[in-house]
Amino acid sequence: MSRQLTIAIDGPSGAGKSTVARSLAARLGYIYIDTGAMYRAVALKARERAIAPGDEDRLARLASEISISFVSKGEEIRVFCEGEDVTEAIRLPEISRLASEISKERGVREALVQKQREMGSKGRVVLEGRDIGTVVFPNADVKFYLDADIEERGRRRFNELVQKGVQVDFEETLQEVKQRDREDMARVHSPLRKAEDAVVIDSTSLSVEEVVEEMARIVEERMKGFDLGVTN
Ligand code: DC
Repeated sequence: MSRQLTIAIDGPSGAGKSTVARSLAARLGYIYIDTGAMYRAVALKARERAIAPGDEDRLARLASEISISFVSKGEEIRVFCEGEDVTEAIRLPEISRLASEISKERGVREALVQKQREMGSKGRVVLEGRDIGTVVFPNADVKFYLDADIEERGRRRFNELVQKGVQVDFEETLQEVKQRDREDMARVHSPLRKAEDAVVIDSTSLSVEEVVEEMARIVEERMKGFDLGVTN
């Protein structure tokens, strides 16, 4: 039987990580863990409980105490926090901003990394985020770093918001994506960076299907290597 792999997908926002990670997991019959949703859930609860973004102690306690889970409903994956379905609420722009803020706090990161390790401990998982291959699972069996041109990522984000009926300006959206990049890469604790042994895929001119196809090919190759006892 094939080995139960742990697959890490990291990269900046707008590179298409969530869509491809979900699709790759479905194709392999693996569990999909969206770690960004976990930072967003903490941000949502922090706002509800009026915890200030700089209050590290309370934020860390909140991150370690709240329950976060993912529930598959057909094609969809719903996010639950403290028993409440927060799938839509965590996508609001103000929660995106707050999630970025609170993800800088070391205590919050430690609490969520622990939860992510527990969730992924049995293998057969695709985890998606910023620090999966570098911090959460540095020994992941396959690591991908999914990137795309900044203009293309801005365009995707813009289209996504327009589709949701949100009135936005392209230039403004592009500046926000650039700002998010700077924050994710410059933060002190677990900044976004490519793991040395990650396979880089540039999705700028690739469709979702093409990216998933390429990833599945690499995963299968790696599985064959394990079955033959080759551990690169
Ligand atoms: O991927 P996303 O946009 O849903 O992530 C929300 C925020 O959480 C984003 O500002 C980056 C941060 N994040 C992180 O610091 N580490 C992760 N593993 C995942 C997300």
